[in-house]
Amino acid sequence: MASMDDVFARYEKRLAVLEKSNNPFTKGIAWVEGELVPLAEARIPLKDQGFMHSDLTYDVPSVWDGRFFRLDDHMTRLEVSCAKMRMKLPLPREEVKDILVDMVAKSGIKDAFVELIITRGLKGVRGHTPGEEFKNNLYMFIEPYVWVMDPDVQRTGGSAVVARTVRRIPPGAVDPTVKNLQWGDLTRGLFEAADRGATYPFLTDGDANLTEGSGFNVLLVKDGIIYTPDRGVLHGVTRKSVFDVARAWGIEGGKLGPITKKIWDGYWALHYDPKYSFEISYAVVNGTLSNGTGKAAQGILQNGAATLG
Ligand SMILES: Cc1ncc(COP(=O)(O)O)c(C=O)c1O
Repeated sequence: MASMDDVFARYEKRLAVLEKSNNPFTKGIAWVEGELVPLAEARIPLKDQGFMHSDLTYDVPSVWDGRFFRLDDHMTRLEVSCAKMRMKLPLPREEVKDILVDMVAKSGIKDAFVELIITRGLKGVRGHTPGEEFKNNLYMFIEPYVWVMDPDVQRTGGSAVVARTVRRIPPGAVDPTVKNLQWGDLTRGLFEAADRGATYPFLTDGDANLTEGSGFNVLLVKDGIIYTPDRGVLHGVTRKSVFDVARAWGIEGGKLGPITKKIWDGYWALHYDPKYSFEISYAVVNGTLSNGTGKAAQGILQNGAATLG
């Protein structure tokens, strides 16, 4: 796959630049109660119900090559999840987006994992008065891109098992369309996969239907058709992107190899499509460019802001 080599080669170049950086935020930046701190120093209050009871929802948009990818899709899913949990985004959506863009710019991270967590807050639901307002908490952090499957493994393929010792928690217990961190079943799946010499567990619903894995949706290509579970799973943005690429390419037939390649190429092409992503203007932080090189490339500094190549 020529385009896979190209996508990864360019990513590795950007990563090498990041790793040389002396910007204190290159390893990660967190927003906690309005303060920006290096990710390793970020703390949460012990009594936060997100920590005490996993009473939270979250979402994980990404930045690829300096462009936020499908940020509005993630924000919409997060708001829907909050509504299902009877919680609210503590700040207006546009303000949250602006803070995230600012954080990415300050970090200089071109390929980023971005996490937003909304928790019930310090007060729990047990013992509350009906109709009582909770003060929900928002936490956000950004760190270098996290792969579910490392680039090197993607070149050849990973190993998965259908878990036997654990099933996915049923939707009647925990709604999987609300992105959540109640990972007991998914963690057990990861251990079972490792015990069986694999990396990725696919969990069933206990009735032989596939659901999803530990932090990923499952899509199968069989006889030229893409199959994916609809029930008992998070409606993932990656899964949705696969649908968008498949629709655009009119994929109906073909063999597994060509379809996977088309989807893979199309998926990364979406990251540069203004319909799906927008470019971040990386800021000058304390007089140095946030790419951490400390050097401004000639001709790109304008009005105190810079776009880095
Ligand atoms: C359980 C589960 N399913 C699926 C996904 C994939 O979702 P997305 O493609 O939106 O990242 C995730 C991501 O964290 C997940 O935790």
